[in-house]
Amino acid sequence: MDADQSLQIIAVVNQKGGMGKTTIAVQLAATISRRCRVLVVDVDPQQSSVWWADNAPAGLPFDFAGMQHPNVLVRLRELNATYDVVLVDTPGSLKNTKPLETVLDAADFAIVPLTPEPLAVEPTIRTITTLIEPRHVRHAVVLNRIDPRIPTQLPAWQALLDSTWGIPRFDTHMRQYKTHADAPVLGQVVTTLRDNRSTAGAIADVTRLGHELSGMLEPAAVRS
Ligand SMILES: Nc1ncnc2c1ncn2[C@@H]1O[C@H](COP(=O)(O)OP(=O)(O)OP(=O)(O)O)[C@@H](O)[C@H]1O
Ligand SMILES: [Mg+2]
Repeated sequence: MDADQSLQIIAVVNQKGGMGKTTIAVQLAATISRRCRVLVVDVDPQQSSVWWADNAPAGLPFDFAGMQHPNVLVRLRELNATYDVVLVDTPGSLKNTKPLETVLDAADFAIVPLTPEPLAVEPTIRTITTLIEPRHVRHAVVLNRIDPRIPTQLPAWQALLDSTWGIPRFDTHMRQYKTHADAPVLGQVVTTLRDNRSTAGAIADVTRLGHELSGMLEPAAVRS
């Protein structure tokens, strides 16, 4: 990257639906917006991120660009003076890969959410090997919806990623919390939630993930 190019375009991708792309794009945007200027771009025709923002009466602490054609992303570099980080929420689609390809052509980094379900494995690996790796886009899987009541679940899935598949991952994982499931309809994000016993775990996971991501990005985008 150019030394003066500070804008970081981060794609949240997995061709498998329901892995947590929208959840992670919006919640990461919230926590990163504490120290950076953040834009969320929603290229999913379902417009889930936009719907989430529409439910927030006082708005959310970052900007939204909904209904975007992925081709708009090639012009995102022009936003260099306005934003530090652009998070792109993408559709979970096994068939039409064109939108994902366009997003990944423009991306500096790809976050691949993965929930611990056997049926998610093949499409996730396919997303990485056929769409991300050929473009040499830096990427990492984030394990999502980890159940803390099953102590063997996290180490087993980390071992699969590390040893069996050799796929880079975040050290941070996201646990399964009702707070995350409720957040879109309530129009809430980790920075607007009251920190209490039922929300603390979800807030902590997203905050930790945001710090780990910032550490992986170019220094210019890290304003902590
Ligand atoms: N860590 C979590 N804890 C609890 N619920 C979660 C968590 N992550 C995601 N969910 C819930 O799982 C469902 C799927 O998540 P989400 O919509 O973020 O996935 P997605 O990858 O964007 O799906 P799609 O491919 O359909 O766009 C949603 O109902 C969401 O609220
Ligand atoms: Mg989504």
